[in-house]
Amino acid sequence: MELLERETYLAEMHGLLRQADRGLGGTLFLSGEAGVGKSSLLRVFAGQVPDAVRVLWGGCDPLTTPRPLGPLIDMSEQMSTAVRRLLRESASRTELFDAVRSDLAKPPPTLMVIEDAHWADEATLDLLRYLARRLATACTSGICENASWPRRSTWVRNTRSRSKCVLRTIRRTPMASSTLW
Ligand SMILES: Nc1ncnc2c1ncn2[C@@H]1O[C@H](COP(=O)(O)OP(=O)(O)O)[C@@H](O)[C@H]1O
Ligand SMILES: [Mg+2]
Repeated sequence: MELLERETYLAEMHGLLRQADRGLGGTLFLSGEAGVGKSSLLRVFAGQVPDAVRVLWGGCDPLTTPRPLGPLIDMSEQMSTAVRRLLRESASRTELFDAVRSDLAKPPPTLMVIEDAHWADEATLDLLRYLARRLATACTSGICENASWPRRSTWVRNTRSRSKCVLRTIRRTPMASSTLW
């Protein structure tokens, strides 16, 4: 798929991934109104990353009762046996989050995408907060797609720490919009 006017975002995402490959992981929180092109941008980016990069993809659904840790369950097939076992056994969050962190800290570099985070359950939000503060030592670049939610942005800012954590909002631009409507 060809994307219009998204070169700057793609360049920044590639930059984050290169840093992750050097052991300096980071998180990009992508927001923007529904239909503006967040998922498309992520799909195009995931298709451009080097073959050596492991891509983990999970998403949240608009369920009345959201699946606890749904995105992590989605991506767990590609993760360590420890993560899969702890999920199966409904182990404590401390153990599980730590296993996820150590999985992400190992090569190859990982691109972790969580789509539609505005529908995330509380446990997923906790995992995001936990990881965002610790990715400085992980070979991971996490990208989290969200609609435009100021309430969520507040905690995104609160998760800032030594690890790189950026918040970007995609806005409708004349060229891309003309193809959207
Ligand atoms: N930059 C772009 N250039 C052209 N078409 C786009 C662009 N971004 C999104 N689209 C189109 O807009 C539609 C909605 O995009 P999507 O990525 O699903 O939005 P979001 O995830 O923000 O809700 C898709 O059909 C996609 O093909
Ligand atoms: Mg989307």
